[in-house]
Amino acid sequence: MNMMTDTLKVTKIADSKISSVDFNNLAFGTVFTDHMFVCEYKNGAWQNPEIKPYGPISMDPSAKVFHYGQAVFEGMKAYKDDNGKIFMFRPEENFNRINKSSERLAMPAFDKDYFFDGLNTLLNLESDWIKPGKDNSLYLRPFVIATENGVSASPSTEYKFIIICAPAQAYYSGEVKVLFADHYSRSADGGVGFAKAAGNYAAQFYPTELAKQKGYQQVVWTDANTHEYLEEAGTMNVFFRVGDTLLTAPTSDRILDGITRKSLIELAKSEGINVEVRPVKVSEIVEAAENGTLKEMFGAGTAAVISPISGFTHKDKEFDLPTLEEPYGARLKQHLTALQANRAEDPFGWRYEVPTIAV
Ligand code: COI
Repeated sequence: MNMMTDTLKVTKIADSKISSVDFNNLAFGTVFTDHMFVCEYKNGAWQNPEIKPYGPISMDPSAKVFHYGQAVFEGMKAYKDDNGKIFMFRPEENFNRINKSSERLAMPAFDKDYFFDGLNTLLNLESDWIKPGKDNSLYLRPFVIATENGVSASPSTEYKFIIICAPAQAYYSGEVKVLFADHYSRSADGGVGFAKAAGNYAAQFYPTELAKQKGYQQVVWTDANTHEYLEEAGTMNVFFRVGDTLLTAPTSDRILDGITRKSLIELAKSEGINVEVRPVKVSEIVEAAENGTLKEMFGAGTAAVISPISGFTHKDKEFDLPTLEEPYGARLKQHLTALQANRAEDPFGWRYEVPTIAV
């Protein structure tokens, strides 16, 4: 990792576009704030960290990201409490994970000081875009792209690390029904499934579109070898409640090590819920749905938070989940989001208060 040497340059926009934004009607990830953070990698070092007006970036058509998809990203959120303080949730986890993803894609690790300095300054600058209150957040999308010119199939020697921000509410509106994969696969042993590699998401678009045509919002991916074990849903990890036990698959090189996922495991345990992290068989979930012990399924992710799943289909057999009065999913979501936005105690030390910076 390189030591931070350059100071952060800040160029502010002349007029904010915030007054044209309807904060009560936000489609996820479609409206972006006034500024973005950009840092370059060249000659073996990250350099020129900069916050500048949000806008298009210019790149040569031969830049490697366009040809080989050498790109990784993160999903994070910032929250504001009623006193105007800004928080992030376990940001160090995102920092570590983007570098883990980068390593797998033969990309250089980003610098921790630049990461936090860039985020903290950006959030101070975009403070008005972070709305307090339940379900409001600012979605942060750090990403790294290979910018070296030339189409030889080898790792780029130049990169851009960028952070853009989008005010957010719910990711999924309405009920989520899922299809258990029995043909296509998302990831394989020894592959890049654990990384937030851009191509992991593109590879899911086609099978997910097929599922959507049949009325399902998401595919729950199964292991590529046998399609017998439930893994993750691509935009979120998945939890199953059988009886009063929560089940979720262990992470592996095929499954994203979700920060919401691991926080929920701890949160649920702290609430006295029995949690089992172990391979979850398709057949046991189908059997539990048939015998009435499958009470809940939900997805967990930064963007999705906790999204209840109302039904699933496996090999053309459709199952609906019951409507519960006090589902674990809703209870955990309430607890997690309150903790994230400083409306609940944080005995875990997960909440990160963004320092006030004069910008
Ligand atoms: C996130 O939850 O932040 C993700 O990265 C999922 C994304 C594809 C929306």
